[in-house]
Amino acid sequence: MKKSVNIGLIGLGVIGTGVAKVLIERNKRVSEQAGCPIVLKKVAEKDLNKKHDVDINPNLLTTNADDILSDADIDIVIELIGGERPALDFVKKALASGKHVVTANKELISKHGPELFALADANKVDILYEASVGGGIPLTNSFKQDLLASNITSIQAIINGTTNYILSNMAKEGIEFNEAVKRAQALGYAEADPTNDIEGVDAMYKVAILATLAFRTTVTPDDVYLEGISKVAKRDFEYAKELGYAIKLMAIAKKENGAIELRVHPTFVPEDLLMAQVNGVFNAVQVEGDLVGRVIFYGQGAGPQPTSSAIVTDVINIAQDILLGYSRRPKFKLNTAKQIKPMADINTRYYIRINVADTPGVLAQIAKTLGDEQISIASAIQKAVDEKTQSAELVLMTHFARESAMQSALAKLESLSAVREVSNFIRVEA
Ligand code: HSE
Repeated sequence: MKKSVNIGLIGLGVIGTGVAKVLIERNKRVSEQAGCPIVLKKVAEKDLNKKHDVDINPNLLTTNADDILSDADIDIVIELIGGERPALDFVKKALASGKHVVTANKELISKHGPELFALADANKVDILYEASVGGGIPLTNSFKQDLLASNITSIQAIINGTTNYILSNMAKEGIEFNEAVKRAQALGYAEADPTNDIEGVDAMYKVAILATLAFRTTVTPDDVYLEGISKVAKRDFEYAKELGYAIKLMAIAKKENGAIELRVHPTFVPEDLLMAQVNGVFNAVQVEGDLVGRVIFYGQGAGPQPTSSAIVTDVINIAQDILLGYSRRPKFKLNTAKQIKPMADINTRYYIRINVADTPGVLAQIAKTLGDEQISIASAIQKAVDEKTQSAELVLMTHFARESAMQSALAKLESLSAVREVSNFIRVEA
């Protein structure tokens, strides 16, 4: 019988510090849940001069991750350095030397998950990554265990707190994008360089992980169509409100007739849906399955405490298995033959905001351009006539249309002499 389960933690940043705190300060509870003492045996951090808000025995600290990876007494490696390299090398080495791995690294899992799962299997160890998507919200284990009987048909998710904070703030305060980014940065909700969040890269990694789990297929970030939120303007929120919608950065994964549709983009969401009420830094993931119907997971998608909750739970699960001597988790088989639906083939509704010359016949020209592409207009609003420039702003909502037809119509609209600018177009989801 094992006397203790020993942990090596790599990375003492904000999340690493949070995890170390839980493992040290709540050790009694964590050990009780696991069934034996959980011992934080070593912590690797490359910058030990930085002040860390946790009281760790200095003898446990090292600047060299290899001290953990080559320590035969360490059972579980927690990787919290983020990014692709050197995390990939560390995780591979840990698995190859028979150590279990817990990671919060969405880039690593979305790009290399299947390879790492196979390596873990070959070495009879586990790699768990609950914290990589949705912080403290239980998601990966729900897909791996609790939703197994259903055929999952769709995921619609708000899985980036930074962009959700920015968009919620634009809606509430009536401010422009740049101002909302500045406010988010001032409050610590956006990083100094918020590009990965704003451009949807973070959400792309996360939806690739969820889709892999939901559809049992090796979805990678390259399969995801990506559009960030930087083009969403104050005026779009004014129209959205008038039309009864919220604007959210949605990560969408759907499966129909074997083809998988994957996209991250700003989206009009009907105001009366629960997803439209998810505000600030909160995350929500709506899953639909043939038996289970619609299920919504909601909670804090970031921050040291919720993220530690997911990481330490993974540690406890693995520790319980170590004590039992076998893994209770079903090995899920990934189908490598995937069929990704090209973005051109998706069907959705659209919001279009166009700046036009305020002259007779313009609306008819625009309606004809859309009609020629088999796009039907559901409603139209014309506002904000500017006497000086003789221009007007036209907002159209369409019925369902094919993306290829919409892209072709947008190009034609832009070439009409009466169209000064297609100011924005945003997809609509129900
Ligand atoms: N940057 C992420 C977010 C948090 O804004 O949601 C970690 O995944």
